[in-house]
Amino acid sequence: MEINLNQTIQETNGAIVIGLSEDIKDLKNFDTLDAYFNGNLVDAIESGVLSTKLGEVKTTGALLQTEYRKIITVGLGPSDTLTRLNMQEALGKVFQFIAKDGRDAAFELSSFVVDSDEFFYDIGLMSEISTYEVYSHKSREDKDLNVSFIGEVNAEALSDGMIEGRAINFARDFSEMPPNELYPETFAHLIVEEFEKKSNVTIDVKDDKTLEEEGYGLITAVGKGSRKGPRLVTLTYKHPEFDGKAVALVGKGITYDSGGYSLKPRNGMVGMKYDMSGAANVLGMLKTLVDQEVKTHVVAIVALAENMVTGDANRPDDVYFSKKGLSVEVTNTDAEGRLVLADAVYEATTYDPVVIMDFATLTGAVIGALGMDRTGLFTNKDRIFTLPILESSITTGEKLWHLPMDELEDKAVRATDSADLVNSNLKQPYGGASFAASFIEKFVEDYPWLHFDIAGTSGFNKPNAYGPKGASGVMIRTVLDYIKTGKAYD
Ligand code: BES
Ligand code: MN
Ligand code: ZN
Repeated sequence: MEINLNQTIQETNGAIVIGLSEDIKDLKNFDTLDAYFNGNLVDAIESGVLSTKLGEVKTTGALLQTEYRKIITVGLGPSDTLTRLNMQEALGKVFQFIAKDGRDAAFELSSFVVDSDEFFYDIGLMSEISTYEVYSHKSREDKDLNVSFIGEVNAEALSDGMIEGRAINFARDFSEMPPNELYPETFAHLIVEEFEKKSNVTIDVKDDKTLEEEGYGLITAVGKGSRKGPRLVTLTYKHPEFDGKAVALVGKGITYDSGGYSLKPRNGMVGMKYDMSGAANVLGMLKTLVDQEVKTHVVAIVALAENMVTGDANRPDDVYFSKKGLSVEVTNTDAEGRLVLADAVYEATTYDPVVIMDFATLTGAVIGALGMDRTGLFTNKDRIFTLPILESSITTGEKLWHLPMDELEDKAVRATDSADLVNSNLKQPYGGASFAASFIEKFVEDYPWLHFDIAGTSGFNKPNAYGPKGASGVMIRTVLDYIKTGKAYD
């Protein structure tokens, strides 16, 4: 998609895109807009040819001077309830229509009621994420279309929105890649390739040998069951004009989760290529901050391993020593995410961060609790501490819900005679998301910590304005809001 800014109608070709609010008759530029419809706009709406319903796309045509032009309209609903999220919905739907239509299109900006910085940011964002095409080896033709904007554009906001959108799609590509292509070594290579040439970024990759030698016993235990060894990748980004502490972002990067010796049933295994989505989304967050040159300081840590079955794999009854020194009894090799995260969040503490946030497709139990559309949030601090991130999630519309974790889970994760901690609860199958959170909490050394269980939300189960079915890039938008608005430092 090629973008042309600040055009006049004569400079554009292809379809003209017009936003239709329900109260369009009362807008001051109604006559200008009506002219696009040869004076028939009200009739076109009243007869049902066009629609003002939020997100509904319709087409018509009109003779403009001597040229017949296609007109694409998108409903905006009543303009007094036109929230930022409603506008994103309308923009997503209309970009999806344009991409499918395959013709050049020109937005008549004056019809869209608002002209805030956020509006232009969201045009850039939605143009990228709504039209994302899932990473695939299916052959298809690439159509290159021009999208123009009639009227004045905030080019910087639009460009920043596109940067964020591309970073979300970058994360989605990792999630969608098949696990025979994306495994810890190739994942680490792709990360280095992406970030090595960027300014203010450092990269450190620890390979399987280094991890074992340096005592990262839990990542090592999970990764050793695969021919493809594990990796721990740490990236730092510090803008030269920012001198605050780092926000630590930690991601679960299980490139395939077979369950290991506690093998998943055949239907439970399909889709486990997505078990690295926490890592992917952390990389999407980092990429946005780096490419937008945001004045901030972030350390991103992704724990990459493949949970497989060989003669070297870890087994139920094994005991391992974490990097922190705590010993862990494995009672279920399918509870591998908390193991790799334990070493990774502990690594994060060595950067003395202002907050540690981890992202993981961690438990089936969070899906049981919250369904497929809400991310589970856990913290070692009080409820007040969760309010800023919950506020960010309301801004972005990415649903997030605080779940409990207290002395009950603390007792359960210590209920073993063989080691300091145990990785799964054999006594009862319920409340598994809280148990897993409490396990990770043992490794954060009392640093302020937010844990996001994205098992249900890492993918869309149906297409919507934010993209097709498949990897969602969930929490990238929310965490960027949290960091950019300074909430992470409050
Ligand atoms: N990756 C899974 C969690 C998961 C399940 C993500 C379904 C997405 C969809 C995780 O590693 C896992 O296997 N968790 C187990 C934990 C149990 C063995 C204590 C689970 O949730 O069943
Ligand atoms: Mn598992
Ligand atoms: Zn897993």
